[in-house]
Amino acid sequence: MATTWITICDTCKQDGWDARGMDQTDGEVLAAAVETAAKASPGLRTRRHSCLMGCSGACNVTIQARGKLAYTLGRFDPNAEAAAAIVDYAEKYAESDSGQVPYRTWPEAIKGHFVTRHPPLPEE
Ligand code: FES
Repeated sequence: MATTWITICDTCKQDGWDARGMDQTDGEVLAAAVETAAKASPGLRTRRHSCLMGCSGACNVTIQARGKLAYTLGRFDPNAEAAAAIVDYAEKYAESDSGQVPYRTWPEAIKGHFVTRHPPLPEE
């Protein structure tokens, strides 16, 4: 089975980030939480990327695997609850042949966070 990748934008900043005096971006905080939550899932891998071009809807992540639909999700708060929902959804995505996950099984905290969906590239 193809590895499922969660890519977390590590430069995302929510409105008011600078006024909160944080030494990490919101994206770095979410990335650390997702990395921790994903440790127990052998089929998942995580990576960080600087800017997924959805800056105004921070925080953003993508969920991808070779040959499957690819999703961008955004508007997450950088916390453990969001990270758990992202990982929970990615596990269901990993179990799906197409990447499509039945809505009835979506974690509640993932609903309303989908931004884009891309079909897999054709085989060459
Ligand atoms: S900084 Fe995160 S999408 Fe641009």
